[in-house]
Amino acid sequence: MTTPSALPRSRLRPPEPPKVGVRLAGTGSCLPADRLTNHELALVMETSDEWIRQRTGVAERRVVNHERHESTTTLSAEALRRALVDANMDPAELDMLILATVTGEMTCPSTACRVAAMVGAKNAGAYDVAAACSGFVFSMNTAHDLIRGGSYRAIGIIGCDVLSPYMNYSDAGRGTAILFGDAAGAAVLRATDDASMGIIAQVMKANGTRWHDLYMPMTQRDIPAGADMAHVRTRCLQMNGREVYKFAVTTFCDLIEETLGKAGIAADRVDQFVCHQSNARILDSARERFGIPAEKMYVNIDRIGNTSAGSVPLCLDELRQMGRVKEGQVVLFVAFGGGLTWGSSLWQL
Ligand code: UT7
Repeated sequence: MTTPSALPRSRLRPPEPPKVGVRLAGTGSCLPADRLTNHELALVMETSDEWIRQRTGVAERRVVNHERHESTTTLSAEALRRALVDANMDPAELDMLILATVTGEMTCPSTACRVAAMVGAKNAGAYDVAAACSGFVFSMNTAHDLIRGGSYRAIGIIGCDVLSPYMNYSDAGRGTAILFGDAAGAAVLRATDDASMGIIAQVMKANGTRWHDLYMPMTQRDIPAGADMAHVRTRCLQMNGREVYKFAVTTFCDLIEETLGKAGIAADRVDQFVCHQSNARILDSARERFGIPAEKMYVNIDRIGNTSAGSVPLCLDELRQMGRVKEGQVVLFVAFGGGLTWGSSLWQL
């Protein structure tokens, strides 16, 4: 007798993806209230306001206050709440939450799960993405394709890093402590019947052979052989500034070129470049190379510093609040950082 499992079975067919577009429905952000100025840093390490401004463009950054219970989780939750209000949406309408961070307080559970619980996103799946400064752009591309593919209809994406607890505020850490700050930004993406809305071209890349140019050793075992032990401390961000700078300048331009090439458009067709605020000099070099006018490449690094995964969504939210990013525009998001990773996302909003 033939058993049922031995019978030939017809192949199951996945459903045809619906013709949907993806709309940027809302944005929000959250900054800690405490400011840390260059002058304050110069009191605890061998540096100066002039050096920091000249080499990075940063004048001050925001840092969390543990007494006020500020953390990656709380900043992320607040940024998402604001994005939901902007999108005029109930949190229960979200069917997925993706949180880009390398500074979650715990490795288990994901920060996304706790944020979902805090905001009341009770019908959403939730997970973290670890791609350092590229994290929000990676999450944006992933969320977009999940919606475009028809499996999800409303996704919250958050980029947040709270790096101040991982800074070495002494001479040994002056190559990083001057640059980084804390911030969270969020966006809500929704399916729309207008299939012309969404990503036109995207790039996501990584080169893990260069992980030690930007890393956070949790134990002594994580420190690579040959590291400069005078500067390395566990639980502190380590950056080979010069090497990352060279990587960033080249990659930034190559990434813009590759993305525009995929879309078959020239740089002047882009209404706004929303870029990771790595260092003002890196942004300037790309702007000059492509002849991008200053008003099309937003800079807030002077007030906020480099906030890793928080930087792109924070810029996006500030630009939307000012009416400089709006529906109908072509917007290019670009980021690069630890991993090493780099990514872009070109949108027809
Ligand atoms: O967001 C993720 C991606 N990250 C980035 O894109 C960051 C990329 N890198 C950078 O932005 C820059 O490399 C830094 C801002 C981190 C450093 O600037 P730099 O111009 O590359 O400085 P450097 O490390 O080449 O150092 C130049 C000099 C050195 O002195 P000597 O050897 O020339 O005598 C440093 O010891 O400046 C000295 N220096 C400082 N001086 C005052 C390094 N840090 C400081 C400081 N204050 N904070």
